[in-house]
Amino acid sequence: MKGKTVVITGATSGIGEIAAIHLAKQGARIVFTARDRKRADATLAKLNKANAAASHAVHLADLSLIAEQKRVAADIAREPRIDVLINNAGALFNRRIETSEGLEMTFALNHMSFFTITNILLPRLKETPGARIVSTSSRAHRRGKLDFSDLQSRKDFQGFRTYSNSKLCNILFTRALAKRLAGTGIIANCLHPGFVATRFGDQSGGFLQYVVAIAKSLIAISEEDGAKTILHLATSPDVTSVSGEYFSECKVEVPTVEARNDADAERLWQESVKIAGVG
Ligand SMILES: NC(=O)c1ccc[n+]([C@@H]2O[C@H](COP(=O)([O-])OP(=O)(O)OC[C@H]3O[C@@H](n4cnc5c(N)ncnc54)[C@H](OP(=O)(O)O)[C@@H]3O)[C@@H](O)[C@H]2O)c1
Repeated sequence: MKGKTVVITGATSGIGEIAAIHLAKQGARIVFTARDRKRADATLAKLNKANAAASHAVHLADLSLIAEQKRVAADIAREPRIDVLINNAGALFNRRIETSEGLEMTFALNHMSFFTITNILLPRLKETPGARIVSTSSRAHRRGKLDFSDLQSRKDFQGFRTYSNSKLCNILFTRALAKRLAGTGIIANCLHPGFVATRFGDQSGGFLQYVVAIAKSLIAISEEDGAKTILHLATSPDVTSVSGEYFSECKVEVPTVEARNDADAERLWQESVKIAGVG
């Protein structure tokens, strides 16, 4: 990864931070987003320890807001080169929260940030032969079922179902993106990291937070193991010509029928264009 630049969202914690540190150790320069200055500085210190030679950079933004997604992506687009984009920031919410832009928070953060940032960085990624886009989805997509008449979960919000829908969106987004990238040499894949003992769920609130905390204490894998498939998709020569796929444990896995629906993938893309005004 020496000489390469990796852009990653959600690198101030969990699997994103571990992946960023490993990539830095392998020689990459890391450009990451953060929503909190103190947490950003803590991650920056770890990256500088992992690889002091590369001038790692942080861009502050609340990725649940389209305006912030656009602003930060436009800033990052000025980087001299981008080899890998890792869309990873995400969260689970116990209750329906509407952003100041009128979007449901899970959809806005977990899907729209991937969509908006990728589309704004795409012209820059296309300048780098063999560039890669990696998006962190989840096996939770198996519980997802998109209702295009209620993408903002106004009629029906249930924390885990809405989260599952957002992770289904990540797979549909990756499929539609890979189609658009066919023939460019850029690949786009997504992944399930495993059930990982990160800070995931710690701020969800309510009963959901409690359930996730218990499950994590019983069956979750380590952050190191959780970062492995991200690292595989970002660096392995084995995936150079693989695109549009969903991975788990560093292998292609077949997602649900809903996640393989290309008509839905296209419809989600068009709905996302309407919301973000890019794509
Ligand atoms: N843990 C699991 O079992 C699991 C399983 C499947 C998929 N995933 C997915 O893995 C990804 C990473 O999660 P994780 O498990 O590593 O959890 P985590 O430790 O909570 O990390 C989440 C990251 O997203 C950032 N983030 C959250 N809300 C944000 C916002 N509004 N604006 C900007 N950044 C924001 C967090 O920033 P702060 O540091 O400021 O909080 C943090 O860097 C997520 O997409 C999640 O859905 C996790």
